Amino acid sequence: MTSPQHLSCAWLRRLLVVLLELCLASAGPLRPLNGTECTARGPASYILVFTGHWSPQAFPKQYPLFRPPAQWSKLMAVSHNPHFRLWDEGAAAGAGVQTFAELGLTAELMKAAKEARKGRAVGAMYRTAGIPNGIGHSSTELLLQPRHPLLSVMVKIIPSPDWFVGVDSLNLCKGGQWKEEVTLDLHPYDAGTDSGFTFSSPNFPTSPRENITKITSQMPNHPANSFYYPRLKELPPIASIRITRQSRSAGRQASMSNHILPNSINPHHFSVTPLDCEVSLWSSWGLCLGPCSRGGVRHRTRYILLRPANTGTPCPELEEQAECVPHSCMKRQ
Ligand SMILES: *[C@@H]1O[C@H](CO)[C@@H](O)[C@H](O)[C@H]1NC(C)=O
Ligand SMILES: *[C@@H]1O[C@H](CO)[C@@H](O)[C@H](O)[C@H]1NC(C)=O
Repeated sequence: MTSPQHLSCAWLRRLLVVLLELCLASAGPLRPLNGTECTARGPASYILVFTGHWSPQAFPKQYPLFRPPAQWSKLMAVSHNPHFRLWDEGAAAGAGVQTFAELGLTAELMKAAKEARKGRAVGAMYRTAGIPNGIGHSSTELLLQPRHPLLSVMVKIIPSPDWFVGVDSLNLCKGGQWKEEVTLDLHPYDAGTDSGFTFSSPNFPTSPRENITKITSQMPNHPANSFYYPRLKELPPIASIRITRQSRSAGRQASMSNHILPNSINPHHFSVTPLDCEVSLWSSWGLCLGPCSRGGVRHRTRYILLRPANTGTPCPELEEQAECVPHSCMKRQ
């Protein structure tokens, strides 16, 4: 039989153990941050500059020149915590990512972010104007709070079936400090919702849907793909972002006038990609020309699918001739 005294004693001991554990947990050596908590004391102000490096020298294959020429959509940026993802490589694209990647529309993405803001997973949303060229800048100011230290960004590649560049959950806070500057090269992704292979493919939904995947010089492994450069180990960066912290002392006025875009673009972004010639299959052999019994010749031809550029492999012979095989020879009148 347990007496009431015995019971309360056991309870007391349990309580003491729990209290001791709590004490040790908080007073012991600092627990390592798991990388997403931010213990910085105040917010941080940043300038984000997006730079497009999509030039015909770096990406000569099917470079879009008209209707529409190569350009970048509005940039969408969201500050958030680990409970929100704007987009996620390897996962299925949501409705917001789909309409943005296919059409460049931000409304659905904004709706999802606003919904997440009600649950405190999202801090703030930002948009910039689009860039009417493959090469150019857009920029925005960001204000990050310690409870939302992650930054995600998306920009659609125009024209394209459902391709975009972006950043997923970049942590701007580390060890209780806001980072001063982060520069990242960006590479294309496929949202997996549209089957087009080339920049100007007509709209054709992928069924079943695929997940968001990175586009490389080898994948998708199909010669028709606009980014397929079998000679390259990796694609040159098609864009980059630079996120620079603004000094606290700079007032609002100063911060706006500091808002100067970089003139010098990192030279390695001026890559020149060789593009090899691509030709069609041979036509079938033509009829024999000349006297059939002695030395008649026949021809076959092929045509250029893709002209070489930037000292890529030149095109091979487009016409070939061969002696006639006597029994396939047609008598000419
Ligand atoms: C980091 O820790 C917090 C709580 O301590 C947790 O909610 C969050 O999911 C963790 N994140 C990761 C990426 O482990
Ligand atoms: C696609 O993403 C979903 C989650 O969004 C996941 O459950 C599924 O396993 C992924 N499929 C592949 C092939 O990775």
